[in-house]
Amino acid sequence: MGHYYFIKRISAALIAASMILCACSDSAVFAYDDDAPSLCEAYSDYFRVGCAVNSWDIENPNSEQYKIILKNFNTLVMENESKPENLHPKEDEYYFDKFDEFVDFCEDNDIVVRGHTLIWHSQCPDWFFKDGNEDASAELILERIKEHVTTIVSRYKGRVSTWDVVNEVIGDDVSLRYSNWSRLVGDYDGDGDKYDFIETAFRAAREADPDARLIINDYSLESSTDKAIRMYNAVKKMLEEGVPIDGVGFQMHIGKDADVEAMRENYRIISRLREIDPDFLIEVTELDVNCYGWGQEEKDVEITKKFLKEFSKTYTDVFEMLMDLSDEGILDSVVFWGLHDGVSWLNGSHKNYPMLIDRDMKLKEAYFDVIELPAERKKAE
Ligand code: G3I
Repeated sequence: MGHYYFIKRISAALIAASMILCACSDSAVFAYDDDAPSLCEAYSDYFRVGCAVNSWDIENPNSEQYKIILKNFNTLVMENESKPENLHPKEDEYYFDKFDEFVDFCEDNDIVVRGHTLIWHSQCPDWFFKDGNEDASAELILERIKEHVTTIVSRYKGRVSTWDVVNEVIGDDVSLRYSNWSRLVGDYDGDGDKYDFIETAFRAAREADPDARLIINDYSLESSTDKAIRMYNAVKKMLEEGVPIDGVGFQMHIGKDADVEAMRENYRIISRLREIDPDFLIEVTELDVNCYGWGQEEKDVEITKKFLKEFSKTYTDVFEMLMDLSDEGILDSVVFWGLHDGVSWLNGSHKNYPMLIDRDMKLKEAYFDVIELPAERKKAE
């Protein structure tokens, strides 16, 4: 550990301790500065590290967030601005400006672009499903999927490396999600499943950019074995039918008390898709660590020493697991869903603290704990 780094850690710990004494609610430790180590550099032997951003984060080269992003991340995704409601709000109207600028920014800075997302039940305009005042037919919707996917993917051919082609198609009851897509397209080809809208999207994406990585993205795959199995079965069937799916995206919106050992088992289930396609892979697409249990935000969480320790432990356990997956050659990209606590989607009626960087854009103790792991692993080898 370098001298400077050591001093930073000590001061981080001291400030954290004094904050706890002051019963301060934020877990800020110290301000970001140029000498702080970089996340993506620390993990360069394992996977790319990225985060979800918005156009305003990358507008001003003098802003703190701009500098943090450039330094720490070598892959980026837009949090909202590349979703169907933004790119394609009306059947004959596309708005590419924001995404064009984002892709240019990434290209100028050697950053790998993820595209999120082409087909989703949420943030998707209604016109996709309407023919006048009536529901659109399956044929019409499939035609629209082809047109939508082809137009977007071919525009960024060779520039967007990975697309979340479909998002969240498995429901909470672990059946295929009941959505306008599955309801109106149904089992169009009569093969006994309702994956037809998914298949059409993947085939169109492959045709539009044969080199882009095509991902089926979902949440709770790491925590629900039933959901992981359901995803495995769906992807297996589609792969066997020749549908060009390259990998599964684990969103990883996890809780502070997540059971990381159980997660390993669920990753193993999806990894078995390699028996069908030896190049099949996994990406972590939306990582964050919620400080509240689902539906349990009755009062602000108290930031105690114990809390900070547990928070950091969850992150370090997760990153140990992700390095193992990288060693197995199945994972090469890990993306956080947001830059810092203040911009996380998890802030609701109560403040949340899910990221490695706090709302004052200060690096947390957990940031340093995570960043040290690759070097520690090397030393132990
Ligand atoms: O666009 C409107 C804007 O016109 C209006 O002024 C503003 C007022 O609140 O709302 C804006 O829309 C919001 C949008 O984010 C853009 O900021 C929506 O209300 C809000 O619901 C939407 O939330 C996004 C959410 O997806 C939508 O489901 C979150 O920011 C975004 O982080 C979240 O991301 C999803 C991933 O795409 C998929 N996986 C889960 C993840 C977290 O929910």
